[in-house]
Amino acid sequence: MTHRYAIATVLSLFAATSSAATNPKNVTFHKDVLPVLQKRCQECHRPGEAAPMALLTYKDARPWAKSIKAAVLARKMPPWFADPAHGSFTNDRRLSQDEIDTLAAWADGGAKEGNAKDAPAPLSFSTGWTIGKPDAVFEMPNEFKVPATGTVDYTWIVVPTNFTEDKWVEKVEVRPGNRGVVHHIVMMARAPGSNYMKAAKPGVPFTPGRGKQTQGEDTGRGIFYMLDGGVEMAGVYVPGGLAYETRPGQARLIKAGTDLIFQMHYTANGKETTDRSRVGIVFAKNPPKERGGEHVRRQSDAAHSSGRGQRQGGGQGAGV
Ligand code: HEC
Repeated sequence: MTHRYAIATVLSLFAATSSAATNPKNVTFHKDVLPVLQKRCQECHRPGEAAPMALLTYKDARPWAKSIKAAVLARKMPPWFADPAHGSFTNDRRLSQDEIDTLAAWADGGAKEGNAKDAPAPLSFSTGWTIGKPDAVFEMPNEFKVPATGTVDYTWIVVPTNFTEDKWVEKVEVRPGNRGVVHHIVMMARAPGSNYMKAAKPGVPFTPGRGKQTQGEDTGRGIFYMLDGGVEMAGVYVPGGLAYETRPGQARLIKAGTDLIFQMHYTANGKETTDRSRVGIVFAKNPPKERGGEHVRRQSDAAHSSGRGQRQGGGQGAGV
């Protein structure tokens, strides 16, 4: 009898402490995994977005179960570039331990589908922009031809905003036209009167020439260009990066007559192709309490596993 009692106690303890996440047998795609994917992954893992594969359905996700487990255990996904040692960030994307456990347990339990009736309703996405519908969109005026091979020099393309009044800006999203060849984009706002890239004609791709760049090379260590007077970094695209958003109550000023400058870094991918990248801007609904600004930070001390140029926080929470 004592023996049986002991087993019963162990079983009830197990029942009390095990959630779906710790008992892989119970974890199913529809009930447990899909809610996490929707909340944390699908903004990028859907057609047309940054990630290479969609994670919308069981069929999409099933072959990736083991990679998903590995990526979240290593905290490689979701991409999060800010160093927690530098404080907390309003757009913190890191998974909770529960979420990690759920995804790992799903893989361990054989990546079961479960009952479709348990699934949350699919999310509906605004196509094309993660910031919602922009109030203004600026596009490179022409397709830029990217050769099949060779190194493409950094190219600057000036696009006037033609803003006749100062604008307060809340969100900026820089979107590559052709993700296959866009290594990164730095979007700058050049206030009237600035001499930055003065020789560039609006709309005409401009390369100052190798070695003549006013500032240092992009070494992939996180700094692109220090900006001189009247020029601000307005947004950045790097694969896996996020759109720029100010914190509540803040907005950034783009002065009347400002030019946007796309600084394009293309990498040839074996086929001649073209790119036409864009930036979408959402204006502040109300005047801000505080003016935000972009501060470029060197990340040379921080771990930099991907070897790509990235700014702290992908340029969001940091420095505003
Ligand atoms: C901000 C965009 C973004 C978010 C959010 C995101 N991913 Fe990714 N993911 C990417 C990109 C870009 C790649 C391909 C490049 C890379 O591996 O860094 C990728 C690659 C992956 C891979 C392949 C990794 C490999 O080792 O080949 C897995 C698995 C993955 N993501 C899972 C997830 C899961 C699970 C989530 C949510 C918990 C998630 N991702 C959230 C952008 C994102």
